[in-house]
Amino acid sequence: MARDWDKAYEVDETPWDKGYAAPPLMKFLKEHSLQGRALVPGCGTGHDVRLLAKHGVQVTGLDIAPGALRKAAAFAPVGGESYVLGDFLNPEAGLSGSFDWVVEHTCLCAIEPSQREAYLSSLNKVLKRGGQFLAVFFREVSNYDGDGPPHPISGEEIHALFHDDFELVESYTPRETYPSRPVGCEEVCWMRKRGA
Ligand SMILES: C[S@@+](CC[C@H](N)C(=O)[O-])C[C@H]1O[C@@H](n2cnc3c(N)ncnc32)[C@H](O)[C@@H]1O
Repeated sequence: MARDWDKAYEVDETPWDKGYAAPPLMKFLKEHSLQGRALVPGCGTGHDVRLLAKHGVQVTGLDIAPGALRKAAAFAPVGGESYVLGDFLNPEAGLSGSFDWVVEHTCLCAIEPSQREAYLSSLNKVLKRGGQFLAVFFREVSNYDGDGPPHPISGEEIHALFHDDFELVESYTPRETYPSRPVGCEEVCWMRKRGA
């Protein structure tokens, strides 16, 4: 059964929300400067959005759950961040071709594996030509029995899904993680949309 994301935020049952941005993203932003506009799909309460904004990025957080965005909006603004309510699998026309970057963290693992082609199609839609995709993927979820979310994605599945449309810039296992996520369960993938 599909997860009721909004209800989770309403009743504060959001164990994925650690209260601060993803450590692999913090490390990446210390070492790289992101230019242009960025989209964070499935942004939740916006910790990653505000981190990007602190680094000077014009960033939009998108989430399907109004409750998540109400919580995001309650934080003091830090820079050029904004939030949009919507379904990343069916993005509104105004988002098409608008972004230089999409920053993924715990959105792909939140959708059903059968919807990954739709995720890819949305990614292609919202990114500009030559746009870049920075993902912190969940490669392993302990005791995963096919029931999710979260749904992990293997290295082979990442390659199969993205390779035709994206060239890999870099990928690695981050050593900086939330304490509850053992090193090895995440993978950072930095990709560039083909056809620049
Ligand atoms: C596991 S939570 C992660 C939230 C945030 N990235 C974080 O790390 O705190 C997944 C988020 O994706 C959102 N979400 C699920 N399906 C979505 C969709 N189709 N479009 C946009 N957001 C979606 C949920 O509402 C939820 O906020």
